[in-house]
Amino acid sequence: MEIVPLNEQVDMATNKRLLNRYRFIEYETIRILAGWLPAVARMELKLAMGRLLWEDAQHVQHLYLRLREVQTPAFRPPDDPALEHLMAETLHAPGEMDLLAGIYRVIKPALVKAYTWHREQTFANPDAPTLYAFKHILLDEEDQLRWADEALADHPVGEWERYIGDLLAATGGVTGLDSRIPTPQPPAGRRVFQAPKTAARDERFSIQSDRRVGSLPSQTPAERRLGEFESYSQEMLAAETCALVLYESPKMPWEFVYDTARHCYDETRHCLLGIEWLERHGYDYTKLPQNTRIYAWRSQYDPPTQYCLLTRGNEAHVFPFRHESLALYEKGGDRLSAQFVSYDMADERQHVAYGTKWLPQLLKSHGNDQPVDEFIEETVNLWYEEYRSGKLPLHAHLRSN
Ligand SMILES: [Fe+2]
Ligand SMILES: [Fe+2]
Repeated sequence: MEIVPLNEQVDMATNKRLLNRYRFIEYETIRILAGWLPAVARMELKLAMGRLLWEDAQHVQHLYLRLREVQTPAFRPPDDPALEHLMAETLHAPGEMDLLAGIYRVIKPALVKAYTWHREQTFANPDAPTLYAFKHILLDEEDQLRWADEALADHPVGEWERYIGDLLAATGGVTGLDSRIPTPQPPAGRRVFQAPKTAARDERFSIQSDRRVGSLPSQTPAERRLGEFESYSQEMLAAETCALVLYESPKMPWEFVYDTARHCYDETRHCLLGIEWLERHGYDYTKLPQNTRIYAWRSQYDPPTQYCLLTRGNEAHVFPFRHESLALYEKGGDRLSAQFVSYDMADERQHVAYGTKWLPQLLKSHGNDQPVDEFIEETVNLWYEEYRSGKLPLHAHLRSN
């Protein structure tokens, strides 16, 4: 019987082990980006992070669909403390540029290298579904690296980035197959990460703390329209709440993370939609004061309450106003505004549905046994009392927790 030599270096057991490692890295990156999104000040970076974390959610989904075909349960820890340590440490970056440099100049390039190598080394036909996943993941990942080249061009390599590089070397690279160095000591600049309860903005913005509620009777249609798109340009606040809820709910199932990553990305797109509308009409969105008080107010509550305030308060209640807008824009022949509002409403319908779908489990995962309907009713009342009224109180007893 003839035994032919194998060229492929990735057998099925290795394949599973590597897929678990990639899945872990992509998943932890989503969580890290979500945790940091409100804390990052530069608006362009925040806008990009919504997209980046959603793309990584697509990658986890691709890997999950493959992993569930080859192992049960589909999600498993990587069984390598050094890799877990790398991703745990990445969170504690000294600042936003260091964080992104660690992810996009160290971890992601190594991940791209691993995917590229792996696709040459697995059995092409028997493992074709894995190759399909890699092909699509790599399109995004290579694009992300190009984004980072530009976004981080002015950021010199510092001790944090070198530390992340050493941590990666301590786990034998993304595949774990390279020779390992001893675990490095963290640099002095390491800052223990805490979930941000205030939303950071860069130096171009001023901060507004009162809140304009809906349309005002004295407004002309032009003022009403301008007000609507100005408020779209502030929807980073909703993205920041989605990001915080995702980060603060580590026990929720993968499908929740997947939906919430999309929700977060949508809100950054709505923010961009407002920015684009303002630019096309000759306005500079950075001149508008940012109302970060809304985030500070929402984030004092536990994640189920934040999620309910957003999905069943803001998002469920905005439709009459949007329908009125749409009618107004269509009547006036304003196709741009009508198109933007139509796309936004399609997203918002999904967001309200996410609220309905996930609140029962979110409550449970945070140890709240209250009947769901009762919880929603109480929280919507809270929304009327504290948000709709424009009061946005910050409660000392909640913020000291
Ligand atoms: Fe939105
Ligand atoms: Fe929304």
